[in-house]
Amino acid sequence: MAISIYPVTAEFAAEIGDLDLSQPLESSELEAIRAAFARYAVLIFPAQELTVDQHLAFAANFGELERSIELQLGQRRPRTHEAIADVANLTTDGDIWRRDSRRRQYGMMGNRLWHTDSSFKAPAVYASLLYARSIPPVGGHTEFADMRAAYDALPAATKRRLETLRAEHSLVFSRQRIGFDGYTAEEKQALAPVVRPMVRVIPESGRKSLYIASHIGHIQGMPDDAAEALLQELFAHATQRQFVYTHRWRVGDLVMWDNRCTMHRGTDFDDLRWARDMQRATTSDTEGIFGERGAAAFAVTEY
Ligand code: OGA
Ligand code: MN
Repeated sequence: MAISIYPVTAEFAAEIGDLDLSQPLESSELEAIRAAFARYAVLIFPAQELTVDQHLAFAANFGELERSIELQLGQRRPRTHEAIADVANLTTDGDIWRRDSRRRQYGMMGNRLWHTDSSFKAPAVYASLLYARSIPPVGGHTEFADMRAAYDALPAATKRRLETLRAEHSLVFSRQRIGFDGYTAEEKQALAPVVRPMVRVIPESGRKSLYIASHIGHIQGMPDDAAEALLQELFAHATQRQFVYTHRWRVGDLVMWDNRCTMHRGTDFDDLRWARDMQRATTSDTEGIFGERGAAAFAVTEY
């Protein structure tokens, strides 16, 4: 059966219907999804019933699965699978985490900042596929910003200025922004910054896209206060209403986004009261930005 594509916004988000992702897909279905994903950077697959393995198998159609950062840093044992980024507010035993939990401080609060996933890794990531197993009745939405549309709408002078700028990304920087400085020296070393252009071209569409995230701590060749002022200006521009789609989750939604040309953030909810069980599979951007294919995870890349 042919898949159905229902645009939710004109150019950014679309819902994909008539598809059961627990089953292997036909190549024509996969091709249709890939084509839709090149146009819409956020795809919503409603009413899915997936095991962890089925979730990962679908994700693997879009590249190599990345390992969870927490596990790479040796912080905890997986609640589900080592290729699942555990975005839930649950302990390994399945209880709602406690007020003082370390993950609560750096994980959830970090996800409240506008970001793109794993821009601090080399290679960075391409697709994130987030699956909702349980959701709170109030809040806990996810907002997405279209960084291609945001780029297009920049003044010409700003576009010219950004063309040559390179930014340093690290998880340490975004966590500093929320006041978390609890990484060990060893973790900080593993999280050494990677350098990224601030504008990139998305190969499938040829569209230019702004490439910024809260993971940025420095812009090369700029004093930090000027860099931060520029960043804040770009965040304010890129997250204006007309560039943002807010996803209000239903249990069984799988939402997939292209990290190369979007930012996202989670919205507030009462995380000490309601379980929000969200699991993310993520695939590597193996083509890289400047052909960084094969670079070891965490290597400091020089361009
Ligand atoms: C993520 C993320 C936000 C949310 O899964 O990468 O940032 O709303 N999630 O859970
Ligand atoms: Mn994220």
